[in-house]
Order: sequence, then C-alpha cells, then structure tokens
Amino acid sequence: MGLRAWAPGRVNLIGDHTDYVGGLVLPMAIGLGTEVTGDRGGDWVMLGSEQFDGVAEIPLGDQADPAFVEPRWARYVAAVVGEIDPSDGLVGMLNSTLPPGGGLASSAALEVAVATALGADLTEPLGVARACQRAEQRAVGVPCGIMDQLVAVAAVANTALRIDCRTLDIERIPFPEGAEIVVIHSGDERELAKTAYAERRAECEAIEEMVGPLRELTPADVEAIEEPILRRRARHVTTENDRVDALAAALAADQLRYAGELLVASHVSLRDDFEVSTPALDELVTSLRATPGVFGARVTGAGFGGCAIALCRPGVPIAAPILWRGRPAPGAWLNPG
Ligand code: GLA
Repeated sequence: MGLRAWAPGRVNLIGDHTDYVGGLVLPMAIGLGTEVTGDRGGDWVMLGSEQFDGVAEIPLGDQADPAFVEPRWARYVAAVVGEIDPSDGLVGMLNSTLPPGGGLASSAALEVAVATALGADLTEPLGVARACQRAEQRAVGVPCGIMDQLVAVAAVANTALRIDCRTLDIERIPFPEGAEIVVIHSGDERELAKTAYAERRAECEAIEEMVGPLRELTPADVEAIEEPILRRRARHVTTENDRVDALAAALAADQLRYAGELLVASHVSLRDDFEVSTPALDELVTSLRATPGVFGARVTGAGFGGCAIALCRPGVPIAAPILWRGRPAPGAWLNPG
C-alpha cells in the first residue's frame, strides 16, 4: 500500500520577525502545500519531483552534512532524514503547489511532508516542528524561528493560531465567517539564505544583549535606544507583538475594519522600521488597499520579496493574479481515508 503525506504552506496574518525573539505570531495554513507519495522500505530515501530537477537520494544512517547535498532541494530532505532517523527508507515523489521563495513557508511544508511520510508522530506537533526547524537550519543555514514548521503541523481548519514563541503555547483564534484571505505574489522571488534575514535576527539579538528581552521592553525603553537602526528594529518587534494580540481580539470580535487597519500598520512597520519590504510589495499592498471589499493588506512572512495577503469579503474581485484564496486550512496529514 502506497503512502500519501501532505503538509500545507502558511500565511502569517500578523507577527513577522518576532518568532526568533520569543514574540507573538498569528499564522494560518493555506490550501497550497507539499505532497509526498510512495512506498516505505529499503535503505534509501529516494524522491523525484515534477517541480524540482534531479532526484533526492539519501542513504539512511548517513552522517554527511546536508548542506553539501545536490540537488539543492534535496538538502532539506537529507536534513529531515537526519533528524527523523527512520528505520525504513522511502521511494516516491515529492510535489508542491507552493511557489519556492514566495514567503509562504514552502521549505517548512517540504520538511514537514517528508517528516510525516517518514513516520514522524503528528500527535506531538512541537517535537515534529522542532526537528524540522533544526533540519532547515542545518540544510541551508537560515536561522529561522519555529513559526512555519509549527503551523504546518498544528494548523486547524477555520482557525488561525496565536503562538507565543516564548512559552510555545498555542491558542486557536476562530476566523470570521464573513472574511477570507487572498494571496498574491509580488513577482519578487527570493531565497531566504541570500537575504538579510540572518542580519535582522543578529540585530535583534544585539538589542537584547544591550537592553534585555524585546518582549519586555516598554515604548520608553525602545525610544531610549541610542543607535537609530537598532531603535527602529526594536520598535517594529515590540509594536508587532502588540498588534498580534490586537488582531486576535479583532478577529474574535468580528471587527474586520479594525483588523484591516492592523494589517496595514504591520506592513508600514515592516517597511519603515524593519526594512524588509520591496517596492513591488509596497505597490501591491497599496493597490489591494484601494480595492472595494478589502479591509487591509500586508507583506506576509520574512519579506524581501514574495507574497502579500489581503483580508477581504469572500469572493470580491481582485485585479491581480491570485495564488490562493480561502479560509484557514488544516495541518499535515498522513494517508487520508
Ligand atoms: C521565515 C522564518 C520564520 C519567521 C518568518 C518571519 O518564514 O522561517 O521563522 O521568522 O520568516 O516572521
């Protein structure tokens, strides 16, 4: 009997560049994702793909550094095999409906789909997410947080997840009936390992060394930071944490107009204080905001390119190619029906 494993991509509704400093995030899974099909057995994990060139051929029990595996996409597979350390191999296919480098957590979906196919215990979401986060860090050296992997495993249909990345508590926030999310690509593709993601994380760590945990800083503490770039970075993280709670409350209370204003405020903060937007993303967000039936829009994920999201009335016409639209989707699964 062949197996089928699936893990979704995500959009982050709000709370970007907060997870790696123990902040708050509010992501939801989408209906695009990565599927692994095949048969277990043998001493190798061997996966072909219709989207990616070459074959991932990973021997079990191999201690080699995944960062040197070719083709490049196979580095994620190798790192997950290293983390899960399965006793049986797998021969099959890995296919994805997520655009790589689009800010929709395509690499986390790949990692979680492979982990799921190799028998990771989905009833322990945090363990699976941590293994896949370590895999990402080892595969491509991106010092990512836990958000993408955790939502790929733990997502629940029709709810967003408020994750406290300090305690790793997850709260389910019901998504309003009269709304949906639209995902549009800015046209700017990027590979996270080649962006200033690690630099931003290092800046946040430098702030914490100077003045203590970002999570505990008051607005006055932030304004007292002398170095102007670090002051702006700190202002983004602290105000973004507040916006996560404000958005969770607004969604629960069906206050869609206010929810939209919070998305826009988050975009402005990521653009001006954290400096991870691009002109194409800014233009896209501006045109989405001007669209009737749209409550608000912002970049989603790490930025530096990739996608924007809009919160809108279900089915409103959008004058841009839509990658996906809908309500929160469920997390990873193995062998349905
Ligand atoms: C990437 C990382 C996440 C998170 C976001 C920004 O998606 O994988 O851990 O840091 O960027 O919010």
